[in-house]
Amino acid sequence: MAEHVVGPVADFPPGTHRVVRLGRAEVGVFNVGGRFYALPNVCPHQYGPLCKGSVTGTTACSAQTGWRFAWVREGEVVACPWHGLEFDITTGRCLASPRLRVRQYPVGVIDGQVTVTL
Ligand code: FES
Repeated sequence: MAEHVVGPVADFPPGTHRVVRLGRAEVGVFNVGGRFYALPNVCPHQYGPLCKGSVTGTTACSAQTGWRFAWVREGEVVACPWHGLEFDITTGRCLASPRLRVRQYPVGVIDGQVTVTL
């Protein structure tokens, strides 16, 4: 495993993400509410550029929403630009099919620099 510096924390304000190249891999680095996550920029469906999709939320209907559909988890979901499958950035799981998931790379902050370990 190798740790890569991907840029200063200031380049990743909350609610933003960037796709960076680390050697032969492209990785999406996301800041969700001040916490960093890194996912491969490859969708497990048909290998689309997952992390170049829009960051959004999703609708849910549960006891937490009073059993009414509500918009939840804004900023925690990335939608693949090819066919729209949505993935939870914080877990890597596909919302439509939780058995489908993308890996998550460890992210750290060292001396004000965001690092990703591949
Ligand atoms: S390639 Fe991502 S949803 Fe199809």
